[in-house]
Amino acid sequence: MPEVERFDAVDLIRAKRDRGRLDSDQIAWLVEAYTRGYVADEQMSALAMAILLNGMDAAEIRDLTLAMVASGERLDFAGLGKTTSDKHSTGGVGDKITLPLAPLVASFGVAVPQLSGRGLGHTGGTLDKLESIPGWRAQLSSGEFHRQLAEVGAVVCAASADLAPADRKLYALRDATGTVESIPLIASSIMSKKIAEGTASLVLDVKFGSGAFMRDAERARELAETMVRLGHDAGVATRALLTDMNVPLGLAIGNANEVRESVEVLAGGGPADVVELTVALAREMLDLAGLPDADPAAALADGRAMDAWRAMIQAQGGDPDAALPVARESHTVLAEADGVLAEQDALAFGIAAWRLGAGRARKEDPVVHAAGIDLHAKPGDEVSAGSPLFTLRADDAARFERALEALDGAVRIAPAGTELPPRPLVAARIA
Ligand code: URA
Repeated sequence: MPEVERFDAVDLIRAKRDRGRLDSDQIAWLVEAYTRGYVADEQMSALAMAILLNGMDAAEIRDLTLAMVASGERLDFAGLGKTTSDKHSTGGVGDKITLPLAPLVASFGVAVPQLSGRGLGHTGGTLDKLESIPGWRAQLSSGEFHRQLAEVGAVVCAASADLAPADRKLYALRDATGTVESIPLIASSIMSKKIAEGTASLVLDVKFGSGAFMRDAERARELAETMVRLGHDAGVATRALLTDMNVPLGLAIGNANEVRESVEVLAGGGPADVVELTVALAREMLDLAGLPDADPAAALADGRAMDAWRAMIQAQGGDPDAALPVARESHTVLAEADGVLAEQDALAFGIAAWRLGAGRARKEDPVVHAAGIDLHAKPGDEVSAGSPLFTLRADDAARFERALEALDGAVRIAPAGTELPPRPLVAARIA
């Protein structure tokens, strides 16, 4: 129990408001006192706003992260007999990479303990996608989690409420008080959960662009560098890739359709960008796990990754051969002119998929697993007037109008032969 009177929360808020810094003891006290309810939500909201406006230095961010780790349990895989590696993405549109990546890396004998979340707003959640698979369950006991990690190697499941509970409470508060977009708060939030999760190594996919948290590549780089430093300081071998999220990843945006596309990748096919990012992240994870010569592309081509996927889905009650849900209604949008597809705005497609029912507005809302968007062309592809650009899918045709509103101006067709500026998917690597 914190010594309630050791510090005064108002003094700490004033210090941050006036651009001062908080020391380790003050931050440890604050986080523990907030978790236990001695510091009130309104006090923590004021402090979060002061941090958003005035920032934190590297030592303060580290102290905040470690205090949030200490607020709950910390998993330990010492007895597992194999090394652990995990990936975290800051979230994007069509980002299903965890689905092929976790079994791919596990097929090399590396354990992948993926504690994932559900989607909120226009970015999808990994658990929502996997729940499209009949029978699959996200909730595992601690015994089931450890057993699956030892036997199958890959686990994607919901985090327990005991993992960084201070972050859970603070994140909900930030969501309601306009204080999400702060690099110290985002970095400490993400890294407290990953450090508490106990992984030996971690690869971060930090996205920038219209469909990402950070639109600006420079802010995304700052976030990535802050998180990589936090990982190193906590003894987790951490790297980051900065990746472009101006365009949706792959051809499927939704839940069931993203599972279908992931299975195509695991079968050695699938869209080039999904394969490229899956392989790039797998290489980093395998390198950090001590396997610099492993060839993830070969494991996709020869079926090893698919075998690990099937085992991972079956271990959590899912039937990898079951038919996935299909939406009752569809609406296809056609190209209005001949030319080359020059733009496909990720944010607009994310919002449209969300309005079709693929995402949720509130934590408690259900998602419609069959809802989403299938793209028929990607930037750089030649299109002709009347050819299909994308298909909206929903159980209720009344949803199409609002989805189409979100997509107004989201696609641009340039004259045939237009050279598009190169846009590398992986823009930088931060070690
Ligand atoms: N994801 C998190 O877990 N925390 C943040 O603050 C932002 C994104």
